[in-house]
Amino acid sequence: MEYENDDTWRRSSSPKTEIRCHKIPKMSTTTAVIVLGLAVLSCLLGYCVLSETLPYESKTLRLVIIFFRHGARTPVISYKSDPFKNYQWPDGLGSLTNTGKLQMYELGKKYRSYYANFIPEEYFDKDVYIRSSDASRCMMSAYTFLAGLYPPSERQMWHPEIPWQPIPVHSLPKHLDNLVAATKTCNLHKAMYNELLAEANADPKYAELFDYLSKHTNQSMRSVLEVDFLYSTLASQQEARLKLPEWTKNVFPHKMRDPFMLSLALLSYNETIQKFHTGPILGEIKQQLLENVNNTNVDRSLYIYSGHDVNVVSLWRALGFHELLEPEYGSSIVIELHQEVEQENFFIRLFYRNNTKVEVPMELKLPYCDDPCTYNRFVQHLDTLIPQDWEAECQNTSH
Ligand SMILES: *[C@@H]1O[C@H](CO)[C@@H](O)[C@H](O)[C@H]1NC(C)=O
Ligand SMILES: *[C@@H]1O[C@H](CO)[C@@H](O)[C@H](O)[C@H]1NC(C)=O
Ligand SMILES: *[C@@H]1O[C@H](CO)[C@@H](O)[C@H](O)[C@H]1NC(C)=O
Ligand SMILES: *[C@@H]1O[C@H](CO)[C@@H](O)[C@H](O)[C@H]1NC(C)=O
Repeated sequence: MEYENDDTWRRSSSPKTEIRCHKIPKMSTTTAVIVLGLAVLSCLLGYCVLSETLPYESKTLRLVIIFFRHGARTPVISYKSDPFKNYQWPDGLGSLTNTGKLQMYELGKKYRSYYANFIPEEYFDKDVYIRSSDASRCMMSAYTFLAGLYPPSERQMWHPEIPWQPIPVHSLPKHLDNLVAATKTCNLHKAMYNELLAEANADPKYAELFDYLSKHTNQSMRSVLEVDFLYSTLASQQEARLKLPEWTKNVFPHKMRDPFMLSLALLSYNETIQKFHTGPILGEIKQQLLENVNNTNVDRSLYIYSGHDVNVVSLWRALGFHELLEPEYGSSIVIELHQEVEQENFFIRLFYRNNTKVEVPMELKLPYCDDPCTYNRFVQHLDTLIPQDWEAECQNTSH
């Protein structure tokens, strides 16, 4: 499974689903002139609508937590009958591609414009804390994201030819990370996951697909997890413009997509298993919110996490969404803490940005909460999923 497999976290879909909000529609010159005139006028009146990514206006925003998936990568593994088994990927398997670097850089720039009124222009150590999965592609995604988010100001330029500044990214080694990649061993999680996986694999609706895939890949494809790996590999090869074998046309991506998404979801399928897989990061998020509400750490107003597709799915599920999800490269979940002006009331807003092209993220409505969701109600939900003692509850004390 994933843990053994240098975290085979996947890819996702093609640019065809690309969305652009606020795209300026094609129009005649006259209309264009009028629209431009109105735009200039509204700028004068203080409502500038010319930029693509509009700065987010909020008088109540206090804290932002962003969790994203890394950018485009090469395949992580191959399969028996893979015609591209010996394909020489320039940077090796599972590595962030140049496209991926650019995606993350642009995502960083998007967040820079979006939060222009909130995130200070100059990087300052106390304002922000960044954590990443230890996987190279996630670390590199975090660095390129930060290059877009915090270009050095004039004062911060330290070399005339390098418009970039070093910004720390923290990570725990894979075997100790129960926060971002959630790869640290948890015995009870493993046992539950195996049960859920066996159940999913026994679902008769997949039998035909499993037969077909086993036959054509010339290897066992009797598990949604195996389908998950294969889906991910085919997707990366397709992105690299390699011509997939004919047999894939009958099943990829459509028929394989559901078992693929189910496989991602199994690690955090129900509330018990979420406690082990997502509980630790929820505990950290709760602490970040609390410290801000408490005024014990008001400087730090931005937290950034760089992880894998399964981690985005786990956070999504733990936050209360049950819909299966295929997180694209650079997709992100954002948790915002707000405070009513001159009042004690704190509330939470949640957003999902499907990919790095989205201009305005989609607001999510929490199923267990009124709108707006009060801080107290949100934390109450987190509390049901935060273990008191992760190690002990995982039954990790084997010696
Ligand atoms: C399938 O695997 C067998 C044994 O590993 C091998 O002999 C055969 O050539 C393979 N067929 C294909 C199409 O790869
Ligand atoms: C979640 O799934 C595991 C494994 O099947 C099971 O042991 C546990 O009771 C389930 N929890 C809930 C809340 O359904
Ligand atoms: C936040 O405030 C509460 C109530 O005043 C207190 O119990 C808690 O210890 C504080 N937490 C931190 C991190 O200071
Ligand atoms: C973005 O993702 C959400 C969650 O999967 C989905 O409901 C929505 O339709 C997606 N939007 C687009 C434009 O793909």
